[in-house]
Amino acid sequence: MLTDSAWGLAIVCAATSMAAVAQGAYTLTTDSKCDCYKTNATAANYFSHHEFFDFRSLHKYVNVTKPINDFDGNAEAPPTSPYFLRPEFTETWDIQNWDNKALMKEDEDVNDATMRMVNSPNNIYIEHDKQNPQTTHLTLRTVRHAKFQSAAEIESLSKGFQFLSVRMQARTTGAHGAVTAMFTYRDPPRVDDIVSVQEADLEILTRDPPTRVQYTNQPAWNETSDIPEATRNVTLPGGLRWTDWADYRMDWTPGASTWYVDGHEVARIKFQAPRDPLQVIFNAWSDGGSWSGRMPVGSEAFLQIRWVEMVYNNTDPDKQASAKASDGGCSKVCSIDETSELGRPVLLEGAANTLVAAVSACMVGRYGSGGEISPGANFLALHGRVKSKWPKIRNIRKS
Ligand SMILES: *[C@@H]1O[C@H](CO)[C@@H](O)[C@H](O)[C@H]1NC(C)=O
Ligand SMILES: *[C@@H]1O[C@H](CO)[C@@H](O)[C@H](O)[C@H]1NC(C)=O
Ligand SMILES: *[C@@H]1O[C@H](CO)[C@@H](O)[C@H](O)[C@H]1NC(C)=O
Ligand SMILES: *[C@@H]1O[C@H](CO)[C@@H](O)[C@H](O)[C@H]1NC(C)=O
Ligand SMILES: *[C@@H]1O[C@H](CO)[C@@H](O)[C@H](O)[C@H]1NC(C)=O
Repeated sequence: MLTDSAWGLAIVCAATSMAAVAQGAYTLTTDSKCDCYKTNATAANYFSHHEFFDFRSLHKYVNVTKPINDFDGNAEAPPTSPYFLRPEFTETWDIQNWDNKALMKEDEDVNDATMRMVNSPNNIYIEHDKQNPQTTHLTLRTVRHAKFQSAAEIESLSKGFQFLSVRMQARTTGAHGAVTAMFTYRDPPRVDDIVSVQEADLEILTRDPPTRVQYTNQPAWNETSDIPEATRNVTLPGGLRWTDWADYRMDWTPGASTWYVDGHEVARIKFQAPRDPLQVIFNAWSDGGSWSGRMPVGSEAFLQIRWVEMVYNNTDPDKQASAKASDGGCSKVCSIDETSELGRPVLLEGAANTLVAAVSACMVGRYGSGGEISPGANFLALHGRVKSKWPKIRNIRKS
């Protein structure tokens, strides 16, 4: 795939990142002093923007709400704390209240949900860490009520992310039959056109062993079978369980989704990697379908998040305007990986313009123009209807 000269450049990149000194050796700086952010993957990638959301000391916003046992009451519930009304949250994130009623009615073939499910602002709150009460975290809760399921979902307002490295420190707890997830998502052009979805997932299934997580470039199945190339069932490194706090990272770069846990690469899928601008989403849900399973009545499951950090490019006009890194290069290269202070970038010394240009050239050589649809997806599109599980079609909204 790589030409000889591209290999040469790739080696330059790799050598540069390996030459990185120990964390803490670089100068802490601020985002306003960074032109771009370099990630510490095998092949370096550069991003124009950085965002850090810290839920660890939001004591005055703690409010652990009781579940609401009424379907519509869940959709209509207000945010559980003023934190979710602050610009630092609302400028980036949007708390959801859509439900799956229309989806369940319309097409059994693309969704095998057996439970009505409603996303609720009431299921998203700040709480004290029970083991460590001097810190707080964000919680996304899903609850099995007698006749329905309430869920929690936070979506990025922007649908313009195009390439990113998104990380969260999180854990999942609670009853079996739930899914917690951090993923990218692009609506298919039509609701039932599921093969055109572009989506890369980290999913934790609470029915699975606590050492296993699932990574997928959707769709993961076609009319005849599952598509093994699209998905990986991975054992967490170092004896970790998903009930433990861990740093989950997903890098979406041209042609691949790569996932890390606590800094270890655990999966990389090129097949069906998303191509076009999309959203970033976090959720906790269950719909009684074959993917999530069914939670016992009265039970709850939780995605708990201490912080979210991302470096990214974005096609939205305002983000384009504020992107300092132009194709010509980026003179002040920063890192969020080599820092001694979580959330705060460091300036990487000695990153010359020429190197950045070389890396860009390398990436062009490596990935070409992109935009082609995988053969699997084409085939599916031609063959129409798909059997059984579609865990999440996002574009059904309570209108
Ligand atoms: C992000 O945008 C910058 C500026 O256009 C570009 O140099 C860089 O290669 C982009 N990163 C990725 C991963 O495409
Ligand atoms: C906690 O949330 C409930 C339900 O949304 C709300 O009625 C109450 O005012 C909130 N309490 C605080 C302290 O924000
Ligand atoms: C479905 O995917 C499997 C696994 O990739 C493949 O062998 C099979 O040919 C596909 N079937 C259709 C109808 O696309
Ligand atoms: C992942 O693998 C484990 C171990 O084989 C299994 O128990 C689990 O059901 C698998 N998960 C999925 C979603 O296939
Ligand atoms: C990359 O940085 C992360 C912290 O963001 C760290 O956990 C990981 O070990 C680093 N990986 C390499 C290869 O340096």
